Amino acid sequence: MGGVALVTGCSSGIGLETALELARRGHAVHAGVRDMARAGDLASAAGAESLDVRPVRLDVTDASSVRDAAEAALRDGPVDVLVNNAGYALFGCAEEVPLGEMREQFETNFFGAVAMIQRVAPSMRRRGSGRIINISSVAGRIGFPCSPAYVSSKFALEGLSECMRYELGPHGVEVILVEPGVVKTRFMESARATEPPAGSAYAEITQKVVGGIRMMAELGTPAAEVARAVARAATEPAPQPRYVVGNDAGMFLEARRSMGDAEFEEYIKKELF
Ligand SMILES: NC(=O)c1ccc[n+]([C@@H]2O[C@H](COP(=O)([O-])OP(=O)(O)OC[C@H]3O[C@@H](n4cnc5c(N)ncnc54)[C@H](OP(=O)(O)O)[C@@H]3O)[C@@H](O)[C@H]2O)c1
Repeated sequence: MGGVALVTGCSSGIGLETALELARRGHAVHAGVRDMARAGDLASAAGAESLDVRPVRLDVTDASSVRDAAEAALRDGPVDVLVNNAGYALFGCAEEVPLGEMREQFETNFFGAVAMIQRVAPSMRRRGSGRIINISSVAGRIGFPCSPAYVSSKFALEGLSECMRYELGPHGVEVILVEPGVVKTRFMESARATEPPAGSAYAEITQKVVGGIRMMAELGTPAAEVARAVARAATEPAPQPRYVVGNDAGMFLEARRSMGDAEFEEYIKKELF
């Protein structure tokens, strides 16, 4: 038990709860925070339980910040667990999302994780142990309208993880996906949205889908439940390749498994808009 864990995106939500949960289970947690002025909630929650959580500045889109945070964690001892959690949602239909914003979405949700992995995985591989846990989403397994940037970035993270399981598995390093449904965090507040322009063909569907997700977020799974799944992935002797979290995620993924493509599309239309 124990060892060093490095978690990205810990100022709030799933990252904050994951940092606390891993520390409760004996890890020394390097908790990445993009803007240290926003580390207050994490620091006070960790302080209240006297947990070993060390906030470190970490913007996953900034190469020097990634290098510095990874090097600091590695100086502290071998990194046993890397949790790639930092992320946000970009809403807007494919035709209308500015390409630059689509690229920024990938810079954080996908390339940010790749950058962290490239810094930390070599030491895990050389040591013959370690776990890389990528926070994906049910949106990494199924598509729906008005969020192609977010969905594609999470599909990419899923593909990356599947490939890396073959590459790193023989070296004793587990690559694991955590796939929550809707979770009650700041996620919808932090989300960026491309408003459909006047006369857009997508105004109505955007309002229905994004409005529906906002309502679902109010009833979302608590972030602490996702954190417990991450902690299981980090500590179970034989971790699963994927941890699905939340009844909504379970329901959608079961439907995906049991239906053909056309039937599943009809199901999503009925459920979401
Ligand atoms: N909430 C959901 O319904 C849900 C469902 C499935 C998956 N997820 C995934 O869970 C992860 C965490 O989201 P959350 O729900 O906990 O939302 P959140 O409360 O908004 O937390 C997102 C975290 O990511 C950080 N972040 C954003 N861009 C970053 C960057 N460039 N570098 C470093 N940190 C960055 C944020 O930092 P700042 O405070 O500086 O913005 C914040 O700490 C995301 O990957 C998200 O896609 C969420």
